[in-house]
Amino acid sequence: MRLDKYLSNMGLGSRKDVRGIIGSGAVTVDGQIVKNADAKIQEGISDVQVNGQSVAYKPYVYLMLYKPAGYLSATEDGRGGPVATDLIGDDYNFYDLGPAGRLDKDAEGFLLLTNDGPFVHRIITPEKHVEKQYFVRLRKDITEADKVAFREGIRFKDGTLCRPAQLEAGEEPATAFVTIHEGKFHQVKKMFLARDNEVVYLKRISIGGIALDETLEPGEYRELTQAELEPLL
Ligand code: URA
Repeated sequence: MRLDKYLSNMGLGSRKDVRGIIGSGAVTVDGQIVKNADAKIQEGISDVQVNGQSVAYKPYVYLMLYKPAGYLSATEDGRGGPVATDLIGDDYNFYDLGPAGRLDKDAEGFLLLTNDGPFVHRIITPEKHVEKQYFVRLRKDITEADKVAFREGIRFKDGTLCRPAQLEAGEEPATAFVTIHEGKFHQVKKMFLARDNEVVYLKRISIGGIALDETLEPGEYRELTQAELEPLL
């Protein structure tokens, strides 16, 4: 990998920023000052230092993306529409990022992107009980009977049985918070259809106890912190 790309991917700034750092003579590779931004680095093997500090190779990244509605939670759309990874800038384009779980195209909120395959498996497998929480706007108010039905396990109109879930009313009329521990296709929407209600807006607000960062605007992202990640790893 090119030296400027390596430093940028490891979080030292944009490609332009790191070219400045490299040009200043602050960067050594295996003990030699390197001023060429396109010098080749062997990830995990070359000893890259900036001002005498090692910049260790990080094989995995975990991003919290606030996916806006209209983006497919995939790396490609066969129909050429926008996908979640289109929102990720050059700093991370070296990583082969994909979504850990689905979020419908018309839904928004927390989409976790990573290149760590076993981690994705852990997040999406129902046996691991990783909880996901959603805020929904509905066609009509929820009832006490709905809460009981969610707790006992909703049966979709096609007969599929869901695991127990939690349903709470939101502050505004016809809004609610739903917590599920699995990820069936269109799960939350189908759960409400089974109760003769309808989701008109869906936002994922947390995954595995990690809340979507309120400072992120739709389309923005940041890396998960070590503290956020630790319980999931
Ligand atoms: N449930 C849905 O219906 N859609 C999603 O995107 C996520 C959960």
